[in-house]
Amino acid sequence: MNILGISAGFHDAAATVISPQGDILFAGHSERYSKKKNDADFCQGLVDEVLEYGPDVVAYYERPWLKQLRQWYSGQGIEWSKLTVNQILKQQLGGQIESKQVYSFNHHLSHAAAGFQTSPFDRATVVVIDAIGEWDTISIWGAKYDKKTGQANYTKLWRQRYPHSIGLFYSGATGRVGLRPLDEEYILMGMAAYGDRRHAMPMQDRLIAHEYEIQFRENLHIGLNADFMPNTSDMDIAAGAQELAEQLILNVMTRAKKFAWSDNLIYMGGVALNCAANARIGNYFDNIWIMPCPGDAGSSLGAAALALGHRINWRGTSLGHDIPGPYPVNGLLDRLLTEQIVGVASGRAEFGPRALGNRSLLADPRGSEIKEKVNEIKRRQQFRPFAPVILEELADMYFDMPRGFSHSRYMQTIARCRVPELFPAIVHVDGTSRVQTVPKDGSGIRELLEKWYVMTGCPMLLNTSLNIRGEPMVNDRADADRFEKLYGVTVCS
Ligand SMILES: [Fe+2]
Repeated sequence: MNILGISAGFHDAAATVISPQGDILFAGHSERYSKKKNDADFCQGLVDEVLEYGPDVVAYYERPWLKQLRQWYSGQGIEWSKLTVNQILKQQLGGQIESKQVYSFNHHLSHAAAGFQTSPFDRATVVVIDAIGEWDTISIWGAKYDKKTGQANYTKLWRQRYPHSIGLFYSGATGRVGLRPLDEEYILMGMAAYGDRRHAMPMQDRLIAHEYEIQFRENLHIGLNADFMPNTSDMDIAAGAQELAEQLILNVMTRAKKFAWSDNLIYMGGVALNCAANARIGNYFDNIWIMPCPGDAGSSLGAAALALGHRINWRGTSLGHDIPGPYPVNGLLDRLLTEQIVGVASGRAEFGPRALGNRSLLADPRGSEIKEKVNEIKRRQQFRPFAPVILEELADMYFDMPRGFSHSRYMQTIARCRVPELFPAIVHVDGTSRVQTVPKDGSGIRELLEKWYVMTGCPMLLNTSLNIRGEPMVNDRADADRFEKLYGVTVCS
């Protein structure tokens, strides 16, 4: 009785299949197959992949009628064709997957379950912050397992509702500086380091009615007007928005802590992808788990977890399309030593927005020229740094890991670099890096780092996602071949 969890119809459609024993058999994003970034709908490639696991039970990540009610309330009208789960599943799956057992769960509960049931904790406080699901925009939960049955139980402790939303505010600021809301928030976060965070004060005066209750003066669903803070530069808007968002997030953490449910924190929702803000939450909780796909795509896993009921066996993000064969350690090492840059497309694709070594462009992080070389391929904004991937036991020598994060295996936080002059390509203008630490887990990227360290004395590599400009991450070998042809960079499999 395999369970298929689905999140689709809004943005970044995804599917997760889990076994009755709680093993994740597959988890992947539609965009990787359709090549449309953040594809909201299922595509045939994803359906084909899911069909291989013959799911018997289907779980959907939100309550469609409740969402439609909110959309009606907010003046967006009702989509009569999306009122029931069965209608949506028919549209998304084209009748190719039929099940007599179909469930749907509350949007924020799906987020909470994706976090708690993949975490190592038996009891945890769960904080969910996103743009919006049905009505809730922020929720705090107490989660625990029943000692006898192993069933996960969730108690909702507090919530904030539409239109008061940290995620909608941050997306509004993203649109205000000319970036794409619900897609390019990570660029706004990068821009923030160049601006003056004191712009949070006038922004707060203008927008916030009550900062502890997270109440806004206006509905930011339609974004921030182009004339919002008209004489302020984009970098200062970004810095102000980042600071204000962080203050509001920390207010939520303060409230969550006061419930005294647990010292373990699960943090989920699209806002949990803001790794600059995440670096500050360790002051509130001792142990933190942010599932590496905390946004709506990860809720396909959450819905499946709720249908399952008990703990998921979490073994990392290598859950998507498989490019079979051993990790090409020696081929990668040769290219890195001779050409400094190499691509890798090997094993199962990462579930979540970060390339963590299976669909990565890797480079020697030392020296001042490498950033430009990689940027010739990536063609992204010059102000954005690349990320380092480092042997976990040596991370403390190079980075000051923030409180609450003894490691950062899925790039969930930033850390101050201790030797930025040696690695300018992986350090942001504010002196921080979005670190990926790799434990002794027997993975291919671990073996590569170990050998690279022995040969060069450098324990880290530059790691950025392997993608053709404007496209999602490379998924299969055919994508990798196209990448090689376009950019003249070898991609090892
Ligand atoms: Fe969400």
